[in-house]
Amino acid sequence: MNRHRMALTAATVSAAVAGGIALVATAMASDAATSLGAAAATSGRTFGVAVAAGNLTDQQYVGLLDTQFTGITPENDMKWEVTEPAPGDFDFAAADAIVAHAKDQNQEVRGHTLVWHSQLPGYVAALTDPAELQAAVDRHIAEVAGHYRGQVAYWDVVNEAFVDDGSRRDSVFQQVLGDGYIESAFRAARAADPDAKLCYNDFNTEGVNAHSDAVLAMVEDFVDRGVPIDCVGFQAHLITGALPPDIQANLARFAALGVEVQITELDIRMQLPADEAKLAQQAADYRSVVAACLAVEKCSSITVWQVSDRESWVPGVFAGQGAALLFDEQRAEKPALAATVAALGG
Ligand code: XIL
Repeated sequence: MNRHRMALTAATVSAAVAGGIALVATAMASDAATSLGAAAATSGRTFGVAVAAGNLTDQQYVGLLDTQFTGITPENDMKWEVTEPAPGDFDFAAADAIVAHAKDQNQEVRGHTLVWHSQLPGYVAALTDPAELQAAVDRHIAEVAGHYRGQVAYWDVVNEAFVDDGSRRDSVFQQVLGDGYIESAFRAARAADPDAKLCYNDFNTEGVNAHSDAVLAMVEDFVDRGVPIDCVGFQAHLITGALPPDIQANLARFAALGVEVQITELDIRMQLPADEAKLAQQAADYRSVVAACLAVEKCSSITVWQVSDRESWVPGVFAGQGAALLFDEQRAEKPALAATVAALGG
């Protein structure tokens, strides 16, 4: 009797366990079909997000990060002011936490960024001697890309080196080192991490215009001369209802040079407050950006610039604007989330 009861109980338990596993498996499969990352994976693409190390202690945030996204870009924590705040004084604590999280969750890391005029310590911006600045840049790239050797899939080697009229931005690098600084940075990054794909990244380059023409000419020249470049990032800090009409054609002309193209910092802001009509337009705009990427075989990833409107940089920089991301301030799904998953083929 006791034995019989025990046997029954064991059978009941194992049936319940099997049922439970089936339920979990079903839940995972349906999660997989509806998340950004899983939907992007159906065409072999990555769907990433910019993350700050400080976000990783927020359980609700991390839940979304790990169920929705297959790639991570450190939003600020790999920038020069964070990684080398004083000459030769390297600090990788914050970025290491992000890279460790990405490794644990099997998320692809986009390193951002090695050479950029902004969030640059004053001691670099103050250098006027070409040999000294070149040595500082070389050491920075060697140390930072070297520290993450083998762990960063894509590096934004140089960020925002051109302006909208197609001329070079008047940065300390341009002033002191001249045109050759970009090429030199790519060669240094290749030496520091031979397996990372090396990208040039910029904004206002999403459509065909004088700015993207200039970047295209540089990439073509690099490809012709064998300067190591593998990819071009298009930040895509866009405005609801005002997308460039020719994003796909622009991505395609870069891809035709043989490089990968990526949407690297996507957000689509609006004048606040948000309303139903603006959110619907925003959903349509996210759909358009995804469609442009999917139409170009070499468009390998889309990264949004933070998880939710609560973390977005937009309200702090563009007065009166915001609501630019896929989850709202409460981290609830916005219409653009479903539109993006659907556009990805989920
Ligand atoms: C932004 C971050 O989101 C902010 O937190 C920070 O205060 C300023 O930089 N182009 C880039 C990104 O390449 O690094 C910028 O990120 C947004 C514009």
